[in-house]
Amino acid sequence: MTSPINEYTDTHIIVNNSPDIAGRPVNTRTVMIGSQKGGVGKTTTTINLGAAFSERGKHVLVVDTDPVSSVAASLHLEVPDFCGLERAAAGNADAILRDVEPGLDVLPCSPTDFRSDVRIGGWIQQLGEQEFEDPYDLILVDSSPYTGPRSRDLLCSADELLLVIRAEPLSYRTLPSFLHDLRRLDNLDLGPNLRGIILTLPQGEPLGGRWENGLRNRFGSRMMPQAVPYDSVVGYSLAQGLPVVISDPESVPAQQYLELAAELEQRWDEEEANGVVPRSAA
Ligand SMILES: Nc1ncnc2c1ncn2[C@@H]1O[C@H](COP(=O)(O)OP(=O)(O)OP(=O)(O)O)[C@@H](O)[C@H]1O
Ligand SMILES: [Mg+2]
Repeated sequence: MTSPINEYTDTHIIVNNSPDIAGRPVNTRTVMIGSQKGGVGKTTTTINLGAAFSERGKHVLVVDTDPVSSVAASLHLEVPDFCGLERAAAGNADAILRDVEPGLDVLPCSPTDFRSDVRIGGWIQQLGEQEFEDPYDLILVDSSPYTGPRSRDLLCSADELLLVIRAEPLSYRTLPSFLHDLRRLDNLDLGPNLRGIILTLPQGEPLGGRWENGLRNRFGSRMMPQAVPYDSVVGYSLAQGLPVVISDPESVPAQQYLELAAELEQRWDEEEANGVVPRSAA
């Protein structure tokens, strides 16, 4: 019998040109960093990719949709009361923290963003439509673990999903139902394109080890070529409130994140050269 994992990876297509938002600048791409699991490295990946892309000259907005404000906490940001998703989506540029690093802005969330009557996904789409003075090339959305309708709404607001999985049994075994959901949304033309799977390694697991090889065999080209090993430098960088690509760019995790950003940029450039634009801009 085909497992949901095989079924999904065999048939899911990266490019989906369904138009759903009019008038959005072609070059703004909204990418959600998500997972069905907690504690696998979503926030770490978001802030490091954000910093890596801004170093590559992109104008990047990192959006925090995690009610516990993980991005702001990781970067030691003081968040004024007037910041938040709702105000930014309504066009208030002061709701965004500018140049947290050169070229990297952060949109922190506010406790009022999580009222029961709101659709955060709708705000993320509005953000992509905003005509900011200096438009964003990339909006990276950090998310909490995938659960239920709110997560689904958020997922559908993104052009693409970077799925983070940790090379360990629970992360892997809880994946099929998430992939099922993703596939269902894709069939309805609602879901984001699965851009790729980013593997993070648990403590003691080497790069290119048994787990990584097994997952690469299973997921094939859906896996990004880079993987991020567990390394105490990531914890030290967190203590300084910095992405590791800035605090220790020569370290192995930093190099993997920098190479991952280069790889993603190359894929996007190749697609755009072939006329494939972000889903929401098509
Ligand atoms: N490559 C790594 N090496 C060492 N520690 C890491 C690495 N990546 C992440 N961590 C640490 O693991 C913990 C969880 O990482 P992170 O917060 O990025 O996960 P998450 O998936 O965003 O979690 P949550 O589901 O709670 O939002 C953090 O303390 C982080 O500093
Ligand atoms: Mg997180």
